[in-house]
Amino acid sequence: MEYPLSLHRSRRLRGTPTLRGMVRETALSISDFIDPLFVITGAGRDRRPISTMPGVAQLTVEALREEAGRIAALGIPAVMLFGLPESKDEKASGAYADDGIIQLAVRALKADNPDLLVFTDVCLCEYMSHGHCGIVEGDRILNDPSLDLLARTAVSHAAAGADVVAPSDMMDGRVAAIRHALDSQGFSDTPLLSYAVKYASAMYGPFREAADSAPAFGDRRTYQMDPANRREAFKELEQDIAEGADMVMVKPALPYLDIIRDVRERTHLPVAAYNVSGEYAMVKAAAANGWLDERASVLEILTSIKRAGADIILTYHAKDAARWLAER
Ligand code: PBG
Ligand code: ZN
Repeated sequence: MEYPLSLHRSRRLRGTPTLRGMVRETALSISDFIDPLFVITGAGRDRRPISTMPGVAQLTVEALREEAGRIAALGIPAVMLFGLPESKDEKASGAYADDGIIQLAVRALKADNPDLLVFTDVCLCEYMSHGHCGIVEGDRILNDPSLDLLARTAVSHAAAGADVVAPSDMMDGRVAAIRHALDSQGFSDTPLLSYAVKYASAMYGPFREAADSAPAFGDRRTYQMDPANRREAFKELEQDIAEGADMVMVKPALPYLDIIRDVRERTHLPVAAYNVSGEYAMVKAAAANGWLDERASVLEILTSIKRAGADIILTYHAKDAARWLAER
């Protein structure tokens, strides 16, 4: 008995939307998203549009409360807060003030909607007059003295009711310092999401207008990672796990999908990826020019981040993507 050569016909499983749906390997879900938000001081419900990030605005606490209501209504489980303080100084006082902008925002959001998870970005750059993520001496960014301020900041966020604290500064030893401070001050149940693998990326450009956090001199290359390095990502990952991180992040996402995959394969912890401001701005600019289909591009990009291994995706597209996913 002779059989004809059987050709693998992959197209058999692509014939209908229903069949494609059954064999689809990656499912993007609204519950994967964290929506990053920028909080400013001021009374009233002002929204200040951010020119480098169309569709994103800086929000007063009142405007933030409305925005959080919309986010929760869409089924998005969490927000990540960045604060723009009234004034800045050389010791980032606004970062750990009891009536600081983040502390006020967290209290308001948790009172309104206890179920919406509030993550806080723990860093000093927005609160420092020089815009660096640590204490500056001359032209150097000091590591160990910065740890105390970061730990104070994280504790004050937890005390205000933050559900998860997320240090993004890239000082060595900050996870241990923050974990120790939280544990010794009654917050041993507050989880820590570490920006463990954070590269010194050009993709943060638009964010620096959004958060008013551009460094006044130099750049962040003495603390953030060199984009060319892969093994170093494992070193950073292992250190943050050893120091007590509960979840780890890779940032940015799109130029580092390989690193997301690597991190996914090397830890049992949940992995987050940050689809950063520059990645957002590129899509928005192309879409505004009619060069890309925004909806299709965003869903493809977010799916690729999930496929690479991210459990959690921080993205400024969160609300749009949630609407589109709900329609499908
Ligand atoms: C602060 C911080 C930055 C981002 C998140 N936290 C900027 C930076 O490190 O320069 C970038 C987020 C984005 O670009 O969307 N350390
Ligand atoms: Zn910073």
